[in-house]
This record gives sequence, structure tokens and C-alpha cells, in this order.
Amino acid sequence: VYRSFQKASAPSKVPDFAFVFDIDGVLLRAATPIPRASEALSLLQSQKIPFILLTNGGGTSEAARVAELSDKLQVPLDLANFVQSHTPFASLEAYKGHGDAKGEAVLVIGGEEGGDVCRKVAESYGFKNVITPGDLYAAHPDLWPFSKHLLEYYRKHSRPLPAPVYRGPHALSPGSDAALRNHLRCTCILVFNDPRDWGLDTTIVTDLLLSHQGYLGTTSPLNNHPSLPNKGYQQDGQPPLYFSNPDLWWAARWHLSRLGQGAFRETLDGLWRSITGGEGNGVILHKEVWGKPTQLTYTFAENVLGSWRGKMLGAGTGCGLEGLRNVYMIGDNPESDIRGANNYQSPNGTSWNSVLVKTGVYLDGSEPSCPPKAIVDDVFSAVEWGMKHSG
Ligand code: G3P
Ligand code: MG
Repeated sequence: VYRSFQKASAPSKVPDFAFVFDIDGVLLRAATPIPRASEALSLLQSQKIPFILLTNGGGTSEAARVAELSDKLQVPLDLANFVQSHTPFASLEAYKGHGDAKGEAVLVIGGEEGGDVCRKVAESYGFKNVITPGDLYAAHPDLWPFSKHLLEYYRKHSRPLPAPVYRGPHALSPGSDAALRNHLRCTCILVFNDPRDWGLDTTIVTDLLLSHQGYLGTTSPLNNHPSLPNKGYQQDGQPPLYFSNPDLWWAARWHLSRLGQGAFRETLDGLWRSITGGEGNGVILHKEVWGKPTQLTYTFAENVLGSWRGKMLGAGTGCGLEGLRNVYMIGDNPESDIRGANNYQSPNGTSWNSVLVKTGVYLDGSEPSCPPKAIVDDVFSAVEWGMKHSG
């Protein structure tokens, strides 16, 4: 293995391979580094082998996460070789400008402080007029009867709602709050990270999906909520719903995998079926799910890898993907890391090779739901495997 390190680091030879590392269950368990994770990254850095981190995690800014990871792993990391679940949301230009229009807002869900931490990340991406479940609850505690114990917390981390704009009479559900009666309109719902108050967040999403064109506090005149199953649900310009990752399970500190953002999505799916009568009524929950294992996220990650490799190695003309033959995707979750790498069709002709480790979601000895190229003990063994097979 070390001989191939030496070969790869020969000054004139730009390595024709690179690594992509998942974080939770590969490098860290919650905030605790996994043994040999730091050594694995340090070894690649010393040999000038490019790598990026690609996580379905999130909930804070890229800068804060990179600083935390550099500290925890004792390895200097860079914003340019880091992708988290909601990083690609920055490309949703269509919904940024909406925030300029008076009385319109984008709803960001998930993360700490009632969504306020993720709001600031969304604003760093260029979104304007971002509201959070904490803002809505602080302004309208009757919105959801069961989070009163969190009211002070939400008030501490909330902002006043953007000024609504009266747009003429709408069919309003009885008793909708006067403050919303002037119709603050939500133009897009972005689930940045795992919600901390599923009851409140589920209620707000459901209200919006039953609203008239995303106007908070209204019901669509097309749907006599909640008698929907009798009539079937009709779309009425409700806001699109984006999830930043599909993970049903993830490897946190507890020895058993924990429910992830995908569980919140499944909850909404099930609730939506009950409210609308489901496929029987020809209704599904319309949503966009990004993150690993989607082609969108792997394409985004390959482009980040190309830029990073180009920057790191001063690779010749063209993008940093030139001459990159193999990428080794090191992950712990067969459904996100392995399936994503196995299915990814690189426009660059690069071969993505999945390597599954036993330090996270995957249970040693079980049959992985998606077969990797190799199953190894930990991330250092995965680096050794990749080096050995890099040809
Ligand atoms: O919320 C984090 C979890 O969904 C998985 O993160 O790093 O294993 O992709 P990761
Ligand atoms: Mg993982």
C-alpha cells in the first residue's frame, strides 16, 4: 500500500483516482471521531491524493461544519472539498427572488433554534424573507396546541413575520388568525435538516399544502378541508416541498441507528394519504428529495471534486476531472452511499467504486441492501483498499 502511495505522489504524476468520504458512521459518530479516521485523511493529504467529504448531514453553515470537522479530526479541511445535504439548495435561484416580493417568504424547516440556524444558512445562499416554524409559532402559538413548553425558546430565536400584503378576499378557514388574514404567502418549503419539533413542523407543512396558493392561514376554496376524502384533493398552487436527504436511518452516538430526515418525510407521506384519501383519490405528496443517493447530489459532488482536484493539483487544462479514472466512495449506509455510487453515471466517464464500512448503519455480517465493491472494517481499511485497487 505504501509503495502505491509513493508512486502516486511522484511530482509529475497527477493521481488518476480520488476519494469521497461520507461523515456520519465513517469519520464520526455524532461528534466523536471514529478510530483511524484522522490517520486515513492525513495519509491522503500527505500523499496529495484528492478527497472531498459528502454528507447527508447539515443544519449549520458549511464554514462552521468544516471548522468543527477540522478540529475534531485534526486535519485541515476546506470549504472547497465539503458538500452537505443542503449545499445544492443554493442553486434554487427561482425561489430566492420571490423573497423580494412584498408579503412573500420561503419557509425553512429543521435544525436548531426553531429553524433559525438553517435560516441564516439559507440567507447565506441568497434566499430573502426566510421564515421558520419558530417565527410562526412565536407569532401564533395557537397554530399548534402542544409546543407551549417551547414558546420562550422559539420567541428567543424568532424574527417578526414579514409584513403580509392584502390581496383581496380569499376563502378562509373559520377563525384563521387575523394577522395571517392579510395573507403572508409561502412560495417554497425547504427541509434543510431533521426537524426538532415534528408536531409543529408537520402541522405547518400540512396547513400550507391545504392552503390557497401558499397563503398562510387559508384553506383552498377547491378543498373543503378536512372533509377531503369525500371530494378528493385538488392542487391549488401550493408551494413546492424540498427535502435535503432521504435517510430513514443514520449512525449517531447511540449504538443503534437513529431515524433521520427520511422518517419525517415518511410521516408526512402517511399523514397526507390519510388526509387526502391517498392514491385512491389520485393524490400523492408532491415533493423533491435531494441528497445521497440521488444523481443530482452525486453530479454536484463530482463537480466539487473536479474543482478541488484542479485547485489542489493544478491539473492541466480543462476541469480538474480530466484523467480522473476512479473515485472511491467510502460510506456506512448501503441506501445512500453505496446505492448512490453504484448508480451514479459520471458524464466524465469516471468509475465510482463503493466501499462499505462496518462502523455505522451497516451491521457486520448482514446482507447489505445494496452490494458494494468491498466491505471493510473501517475508513482506514477503505483507503488501503482504494489505493490497492487504484491500478
Ligand atoms: O443527518 C445525517 C444523516 O442523515 C447521515 O449523514 O454523513 O452519514 O451522510 P451522513
Ligand atoms: Mg453515514
